[in-house]
Amino acid sequence: MNEQQRIDSQKVTVADNSADKKSVSEKTSADFAKYFEKTYQPPSLKDAKKRGKEEVQYHNDFKIPEQFKGMGQGRKFYIRTYGCQMNEHDTEVMAGIFMALGYEPTDGVEDANVILLNTCAIRENAENKVFGELGHLKALKKEKPDLLLGVCGCMSQEESVVNRILKVHPFVDMIFGTHNIHRLPNILSEAYLSKEMVIEVWSKEGDVIENLPKIRKGNIKAWVNIMYGCDKFCTYCIVPYTRGKERSRRPEEIIHEVRQLAAQGYKEITLLGQNVNAYGKDFEDMNYGLGDLMDEIHKIDIPRIRFTTSHPRDFDDRLIEVLAKGGNLLDHIHLPVQSGSSEVLKIMARKYTRERYLELVQKIKTAIPNASLTTDIIVGFPNETDEQFEETLSLYREVEFDSAYTFIYSPREGTPAAKMKDNVPMEVKKERLQRLNALVNEISAKKLKEYEGKIVNVLVEGESKNNPDVLAGYTEKSKLVNFRGPKSAVGQIVKVKIIKAKTWTLDGEMVEEAVEVI
Ligand code: SAH
Ligand code: SF4
Ligand code: F3S
Repeated sequence: MNEQQRIDSQKVTVADNSADKKSVSEKTSADFAKYFEKTYQPPSLKDAKKRGKEEVQYHNDFKIPEQFKGMGQGRKFYIRTYGCQMNEHDTEVMAGIFMALGYEPTDGVEDANVILLNTCAIRENAENKVFGELGHLKALKKEKPDLLLGVCGCMSQEESVVNRILKVHPFVDMIFGTHNIHRLPNILSEAYLSKEMVIEVWSKEGDVIENLPKIRKGNIKAWVNIMYGCDKFCTYCIVPYTRGKERSRRPEEIIHEVRQLAAQGYKEITLLGQNVNAYGKDFEDMNYGLGDLMDEIHKIDIPRIRFTTSHPRDFDDRLIEVLAKGGNLLDHIHLPVQSGSSEVLKIMARKYTRERYLELVQKIKTAIPNASLTTDIIVGFPNETDEQFEETLSLYREVEFDSAYTFIYSPREGTPAAKMKDNVPMEVKKERLQRLNALVNEISAKKLKEYEGKIVNVLVEGESKNNPDVLAGYTEKSKLVNFRGPKSAVGQIVKVKIIKAKTWTLDGEMVEEAVEVI
């Protein structure tokens, strides 16, 4: 079956499924009935939860359909990205498709002919930002009726969001999900022709689509997807529903992409996945994991390789052994722990205990003595006790993370945790977050202080945000360094002596001419 036939057959399935349509329409309102007569494909978190035995389909036949070529002549696009690196990279793919259609990019919403909001559903405040932005864009849409406004990304995969947009923001022209960004040309074309909102969201397990065009942001660092989706179903998390099942790209595709980026002069690659440690587990024809992939990428002539995000449960010895080889494999590992209490971890379905996590940290520190670790933590999970929260603080102190992203638990409709009764008042959650942040800052500051007087390798990304006379870049352990140096150092790895540690960043001075470290 080719791509078009596959899409058509899916549309037929939806159109034939009148029972399903009824239940959705009853939930929303009769006003929306007209949408169901069209090729309206609403999302369903219930369907998105299913994990069948169907093999992953790999598609290598992406082409801009002939009839859409030149669609963007004289038109400009603007994409606002929310959320994680996966979304950042999806935006690069959509930018690639826009450019292939003849659109030009613009930095401001005012002169855009198409605006896309690439959204994130991870916490309520992430969603509120998008609804707020839609409110602002309403005026612009009134001024410019020809403007096309689209919502895509993880929020589009939630039926409650689609229903709210239909009700409250009916001026939106198109909604499409994470599984069909390659359908952007068709969706745009439908939106130009249709007076009604075009909605195309697939709540399916997911395929792998190769050879999509990409316009990367910058020419120093690049994202490379190694896998998509997540099957972990941590009880608080919406991602397995919005991104589909775990599916890995074939190693040869990834290696080819990294080699190409190296040849183009990129200095740093970040391998991306929601749970990169599950890489390869879906291959039926070979036993091949993240360690094996990293071992091959290690041999490519590119100075820096990172990966994110790791799940502690699947972090295996093979990977540790390969990372210990060093070289271009950087020794900064982001290892989300979420909680220091085994009881909470169990209810979160993280499938490791406090002790297992600490053992893993010990193993990593033994094999890679200078490794820096960062983490993610959720406070105020339903019914989290003071003692359980104290365990998070004590684990943090014990591991001495370099830094952490910390969050107050946010219930996500459709997830098991959202149904749990919660006896922790918001005031208490906020207080816990403050206490945790104070500890994070204390240890971070202490770790940064240790850099004073030391020389580090910095990949220079450009001028510092606040002062164009100062350059800024990141160390191997992802510390932001500001220093004075020649503009020719931008894009190079240079040696910088750290003079002063600030709260979040380091100030230094360049110690020699721009030199390539590898
Ligand atoms: N795949 C990554 C996490 C992706 S989401 C992993 O498992 O490590 C990034 C972070 O958001 C998570 O690590 C978690 O700390 C936080 N998060 C996810 N769902 C959340 C929720 N419902 N409320 C608060 N924080 C959440
Ligand atoms: Fe969410 Fe857990 Fe998957 Fe991370 S591993 S994306 S927290 S379900
Ligand atoms: Fe957000 Fe989706 Fe990423 S929910 S964190 S944009 S995978």
